[in-house]
Amino acid sequence: MIVEDALSGFRRLGLAHLPTPLEPLQRLSAHLGGPRLWVKRDDCTGLGLGGNKLRKLDYVLREAIDQGADTLVSGGVVQSNSQRQVAAAAAKLGLACHLAVYHGRLAPSTVEYEATGNALLNRLFGAVLHDVPWNGDRNGAITALADGLRARGHRPYIVPYGVSNPLGAVAYASTLLEIAHQSEALGFLPAAVVHCSGSGGTQAGLVAARRCLPHTRIVGIDIDAEPGRVRADVLAYAEAAAAQLGQPFDPADVEVVAGHAGPAYGVPHQATIEAIRLGAALEGLVLDPVYSGKGLAGLIALVRSGRWTSGQDVVFIHTGGAPALFAYRHLFD
Ligand SMILES: Cc1ncc(COP(=O)(O)O)c(C=O)c1O
Repeated sequence: MIVEDALSGFRRLGLAHLPTPLEPLQRLSAHLGGPRLWVKRDDCTGLGLGGNKLRKLDYVLREAIDQGADTLVSGGVVQSNSQRQVAAAAAKLGLACHLAVYHGRLAPSTVEYEATGNALLNRLFGAVLHDVPWNGDRNGAITALADGLRARGHRPYIVPYGVSNPLGAVAYASTLLEIAHQSEALGFLPAAVVHCSGSGGTQAGLVAARRCLPHTRIVGIDIDAEPGRVRADVLAYAEAAAAQLGQPFDPADVEVVAGHAGPAYGVPHQATIEAIRLGAALEGLVLDPVYSGKGLAGLIALVRSGRWTSGQDVVFIHTGGAPALFAYRHLFD
């Protein structure tokens, strides 16, 4: 079955502004002197300042509504873009929202980190925030929160950490389909689609949809400094999503590039800061220090290493995250 037909069997709520634009990055391409670079603007999905998770939520929350949920339950670190988009979607859908907010994964934190950006938006969207210590289990506290709400008579729907599960990956297959249509209309065939990879659902969806751009390499940049874990998660979600979409799956299609995450999750290094500055100064793009900035830093390093020729076209997916930039203001003093 072709990817488009397979995807049309999955309903979405229409929360996200789709398709997102595909635009040339002429000044950044000229600056780097490598391939022609393009940006897929998945930071422009709309609701609650948008981002890649909204595309996943558009499909995943269809299931929540179908199940008669009255509450969304999710979690993440203080500046999680994922939980901010869950909170915005809950507000829009008139659902309650409870979030497990993990403390201690990043240290030390600043006043801005605790109070601005996504943390501020979560409160404005009306989410109930539950502070829990980070213990490395991404979904444990979320499940416990949902169990407690269920015991008190609520109908919670669990949105997993990063909205990464097979259905979230199915949803993200739509991005590659959009890129296939848009690049054809613009007259080019991408040699690669490059993006940052964390909880794995984004890359898994792109890999599951590979047949709509069979000559395009999907390149995930590890931003967690855990490339082995990221690769394992991408493999698992991609295999499940491909099965749900009736698509072939080849583990060789999963490429996770290590070495561009800086010292740890949420800790940007000099190359990330340079990428954020270049994106802003040359293209007016707003990237963040945790995800999209590290993703662009990885792409810039690959371009500088000569991976592609000047005659090739490479698409960078801007997955969002701009609100978190304000929480890291001190990096740009
Ligand atoms: C802005 C941004 N980009 C990329 C990602 C990574 O996507 P995934 O977790 O599906 O790998 C995230 C995840 O939180 C994100 O917030």
